[in-house]
Formats: sequence, structure tokens, C-alpha cells
Amino acid sequence: MNAVFPGSFDPITSGHMDVLTRAAKIFDHVTVTVMHNARKQGRHLFTLDERLEILREATAHFGNVSVDTFGGLLVDYMARQPGSVILRGLRAVSDYEYELQIAHLNRQIGDAETVFIMAATRWSFVSSSMIREIASYGGDVSEMVPRASAGALRRKHEDVYAEREAQNAGTH
Ligand code: PNS
Repeated sequence: MNAVFPGSFDPITSGHMDVLTRAAKIFDHVTVTVMHNARKQGRHLFTLDERLEILREATAHFGNVSVDTFGGLLVDYMARQPGSVILRGLRAVSDYEYELQIAHLNRQIGDAETVFIMAATRWSFVSSSMIREIASYGGDVSEMVPRASAGALRRKHEDVYAEREAQNAGTH
């Protein structure tokens, strides 16, 4: 069975990677799909192409994971691949209420089934938005994201990282 792992992936975190690794052992194939909305383009740190590039690099070692993108309703994407299920990760109970609502809506509007996989507790506090926040100040996120994301964040905030490193070197 194929699982579709949809998200913004701005950028992919170690929590996403953990869920993906677990899912790749359960499902025959997992498609990581960056859902995008042309009207919300400016709201992301990384462009769609950058996010796809990071994902391709971060998932290259899996034999049964592919990367895709879709700019519409998730249920319309799911309808193109009958028999597939939606995969979403859960970090904590706080995720559950929101995810439950979306899962029910996707079933209501498109008869799409959602399967949840719990991320390891060590990633329960990691989110793409917090990663973006830390990286925007030049903070070290390398333990919480795959190498592809860490490199892309560093390139995106090159000046901030260089400045913080110079400052810290000066204080030692
Ligand atoms: O990584 P995210 O931002 O939590 O992912 C949310 C995502 C992209 C899976 C969700 O917003 C989505 O499915 N968007 C596509 C549009 C859609 O189908 N919306 C109806 C379900 S709320």
C-alpha cells in the first residue's frame, strides 16, 4: 500500500524524518508531497523548488520514498491514486485535535483515510516554525533537522550565522 505524507515541509525536520522512517517500514511506498497554494507562496521561508530539493536530498537513502508536489485540495490528489492513505505524524496530544478535524474533513469531502504515526518523544518539541525561528537568529538546529535542511537554513541566513559565530568566537 502507498501512503501519501502531505505537508508544507518548510523545511523537513527530524520529527518528519522519524515518522517517514517508521512509515517506510510499514508501507510499500511513501510519497512525500509538498502541498502548495499559489496564493500563499510568500508565507514560506523556502520556495517550493527549494523545499523539493531539500526533501529529495533528505530522502535519497530510502528505496521506497518519492517526492512530489500538488497545488490543490489533498483529497483531489488522493483521488488520483486510489487505495492510498494519508499519513500524518503526531507529536503530542495537542496535535491530535487539529489532525482529527482535518482527517474527518478529508473523509467527509473525499472519502480519504488518514493513518497516524507517532513521532519519537525526543522530537515532540520540534516544529518547522520553531526551527525557522532559531535559524533566523543563527542558532544551531543541526540536531533537529536532517543535514539537507541544516545546510539550506545556513545558506538562507548566511550573514546571521557568520555574525553570531564571530561574536561567540570573540567572547571565548
Ligand atoms: O505541514 P502542515 O503545514 O501541517 O501541512 C498541512 C497540509 C498541507 C497537509 C494541509 O494544509 C493540506 O492538506 N493542505 C492542502 C489543502 C487542503 O486539502 N485543505 C483541506 C484540509 S484542511
